[in-house]
Amino acid sequence: MDYKRLLVTSALPYANGAIHFGHLAGAYLPADMYVRYQRLRGTDVIYICGSDEHGVSILISSQKEGVAPQEIIDRYHGQNKRAFDRVGISFDNYSRTSLPVHHETAREWFEDFKNKGILTQSTEKQLFDPEAGMFLPDRFVIGTCPHCGYDRAYGDQCENCSKYYDQTELLNPKSLLSEAKPVVKDAQHWHFPLGEFQKKLEEYVESHAGDWKDNVLQQVRSWLKTGLTDRPISRDLNWGVKVPGEEDLGKVLYVWFEAVLGYISSTKEWAAEKGEPELWKDYWCGEDTRYLAFIGKDNIVFHCLMFPAMLMGKGGYVLPDNVPANEFLNLEGKKFSKSQGWSIELDEFLDSYPADPLRYTLAMNMPETRDSDFYWKDFQARNNNELADILGNFVNRAAHFLEKHFDGIVPEPGELSDDDRAFLNGFNTTAAEVADFYERFRFRDAVVATMNLARAANKYFNDREPWKTVKADPQVCASTLFCSIQAIYALSIFIEPVLPFTADKLRKQLNLGNEHPLTWDAPAVHRIPAGHKLGEKALLFEKIEDKIIEAEMAKLQQPEESSTAEASYPPLKDEITIDDVMKLDLRIGTVIEAENVPKSKKLIKLIVDIGSETRQIVSGIASAYEAADLVGKQIAIVANLKAAKLFGIESQGMLLAASNEEEGPMIMIPQGAISNGAIVK
Ligand code: MF3
Ligand code: ZN
Repeated sequence: MDYKRLLVTSALPYANGAIHFGHLAGAYLPADMYVRYQRLRGTDVIYICGSDEHGVSILISSQKEGVAPQEIIDRYHGQNKRAFDRVGISFDNYSRTSLPVHHETAREWFEDFKNKGILTQSTEKQLFDPEAGMFLPDRFVIGTCPHCGYDRAYGDQCENCSKYYDQTELLNPKSLLSEAKPVVKDAQHWHFPLGEFQKKLEEYVESHAGDWKDNVLQQVRSWLKTGLTDRPISRDLNWGVKVPGEEDLGKVLYVWFEAVLGYISSTKEWAAEKGEPELWKDYWCGEDTRYLAFIGKDNIVFHCLMFPAMLMGKGGYVLPDNVPANEFLNLEGKKFSKSQGWSIELDEFLDSYPADPLRYTLAMNMPETRDSDFYWKDFQARNNNELADILGNFVNRAAHFLEKHFDGIVPEPGELSDDDRAFLNGFNTTAAEVADFYERFRFRDAVVATMNLARAANKYFNDREPWKTVKADPQVCASTLFCSIQAIYALSIFIEPVLPFTADKLRKQLNLGNEHPLTWDAPAVHRIPAGHKLGEKALLFEKIEDKIIEAEMAKLQQPEESSTAEASYPPLKDEITIDDVMKLDLRIGTVIEAENVPKSKKLIKLIVDIGSETRQIVSGIASAYEAADLVGKQIAIVANLKAAKLFGIESQGMLLAASNEEEGPMIMIPQGAISNGAIVK
């Protein structure tokens, strides 16, 4: 695609928790590497982000901690902004959705949709807290389950029997805000008619079938296949962007509707701070802008369907040209979970280790096509055996040699040999190869190709044996050192996207000024001339000892005492006998089809092959799984459960999953492949 400017955004993280490695590897590091690469290419690019400061999640945190939401967002906005900075994420602007410019932007968009007659309104029955004076979100009301009688059931789903119901069906409901008994009231809500954009969205998505990542396409197509429906865009909350015209009714815009507009308001803030308040329009409304939205896979639907539909509805805006979503990063084989101590605080990490080895390790394990892991031992090995032993070692040897034998001054080369010339020409190959990988969002490959130049440089230095030629043939030795210094220069540029702090050190060490351009193509055409004096040697990478890594791993195994999850588990059920257990027929099956149940936020319809037959099973796992991701997975089901209807769809069995308030549902998957129909006992 030909374009004049590049607009890059990363998902706005919620300001109710610290960002961790998973977030970094998912949506920030790849975007940052891409942007840094483009800056070296001389592209007109801006990189925009900010904190997402509204939504129920912020309110829940504020409730849990017993402090005002403002305090929560101030704390995490500051903390995350600093952490991003320390790890070298080079945003051009990091804004906040609580700023007036954002509220104004979101309200203007809502009013525009309303004036154009795009929005619809409908009425639903909802629980209202008369003391707090507001309608209650599902998570803020508790009561007795209408199905099993469990008395700490939430407004949407019972933790004990997993049944779904409407919050107005709860018996003895109690508001978690005020302890008051809520009353049922009519609530009016605005809806965005996503369904009306179905055709245009299909065209949009298919026009990118050749360039979007498979994981993104698959998910979006599965949503489109299910059929898009209207989406409520207002909520009854007292925290968020107030719905224009309904300021006194305690109504705010649904966080997703306004959060994506945070990209635009952040760009407005950026332009205003530059003193060119209209400049944001070039990036959002210019036809020759290319827009890339970097996100994690949980945000695909909003960025590939909802936001584009909003942009279409508003008119005159660019749509994302690509949405390079990553899968998830896990920690040592398990999901990150702060409450269980299975997590690494970024800030704390950066107090002990420099950012570049982390960036490198995350880039080499980036969850580009499937979930991946961060392992402490891998981090150590990447740092010691790759960064220190290959990159650091080459730079060190060459610089040390130059200092010792040439007073740190680049020598006049002798006549270059074929080897020397081939080595120098290799820079062009690396430049082209790495660039191609970045352009195709293949970050791991880009970094591997970059490191291969450091490998080649080590080999070159070894093969040319300057410690022998320094006496035997000083001309040859001078050529070797001349070429080696050029390699350090090339590396200082090619590593910049992934190792920006190290690149900086190299530039200082090379003592480079403006006469030595820092552009992607420079190593191919520009040489550091003979006579140039290098600066002081820098220590690039420090090795990490085994005992340090062992201590870090031990920390993971001692989870903090936190029992918020346990506290809400129901007591154990009455004892049963083996005969009772044997009544259950549990089987293994493979999911061969999966799609979201229309109009339901929670249900997914699965077709499961259990060997002897296939079963249709409706399961409440949509909050944790994308339908498309389930296809091909083996699961365990209750195979002799009487069929029942859910949302009007027959469910012939029940899938086994573990869940609690914070983490699940998590489906049970056999450890290894076993044939379908196998009995679970
Ligand atoms: N804060 C949300 C999340 O982290 C949404 C991020 S993307 C946005 O999942 F565009 F909506 F901000
Ligand atoms: Zn129940």
